[in-house]
Amino acid sequence: MSRTAGSLIGKEIRKNPNLILGLATGSTPIGTYKELIRMHKEENLDFSKVISFNLDEYIGLEGIDQNSYRYFMDKELFNDINIKSENTNVPSGVADDMEKYCELYDTMIDEVGGIDLQVLGIGVNGHIAFNEPADSLSMGSFIVNLTNETISANSRFFDSIDEVPKRAISMGIGNIQKAKKIVLLANGKRKAEIIKKILEDETITTQIPASLLLLHQDVTLIVDEDAYSLVKSEA
Ligand code: F6R
Repeated sequence: MSRTAGSLIGKEIRKNPNLILGLATGSTPIGTYKELIRMHKEENLDFSKVISFNLDEYIGLEGIDQNSYRYFMDKELFNDINIKSENTNVPSGVADDMEKYCELYDTMIDEVGGIDLQVLGIGVNGHIAFNEPADSLSMGSFIVNLTNETISANSRFFDSIDEVPKRAISMGIGNIQKAKKIVLLANGKRKAEIIKKILEDETITTQIPASLLLLHQDVTLIVDEDAYSLVKSEA
């Protein structure tokens, strides 16, 4: 799975060395990032002109905090490839005016011409980035109150559930839909129900934010056997 995702991303970078790459955190893309590091070291995959934008960040965590997404990205990918640190963008979780910062983040993405390739994971409840199931979803970057389900799913990275921040900044569904190409990654039995639902129901609903990806014209879903295990063969 990680090899497939890595080679798809690598191909896009070789086609366009100035690629604007949207990145996700969480456990799912770690293998893909390892593969990108391997490709950089063994196959000279060059990130020197790549510009990255991450999907989200916890509010209140500085980049040096080990649970921040900035820290995660530095550790899992950026430190081991030749991307310029000034070209790596992870939203700030500590801006003075977070609402204004959301607008700024969208402008930064727009100013470089939008995201060429967006890497996504998916939550067990169908969230993408931190677009949680809701009656309506945000177009641009926004501040979100995390659901109890997401707080509890993410608590595995923290010493205790009380330490999980309750709010995050996240790209909106509009930012994601505007990406020219999307790669959605899902692995493990935990994701089997939601993958089945999206592929088999073919229903678009804001209650399953990832279902909106059915409207995008260039999405590649990369799953392992466990995540695909409940999908009927004809779906
Ligand atoms: C992370 C993100 C989240 C995760 C999702 C799945 O930047 O935006 O939507 O992709 O919560 O997380 P994992 O991969 O840990 O199962």
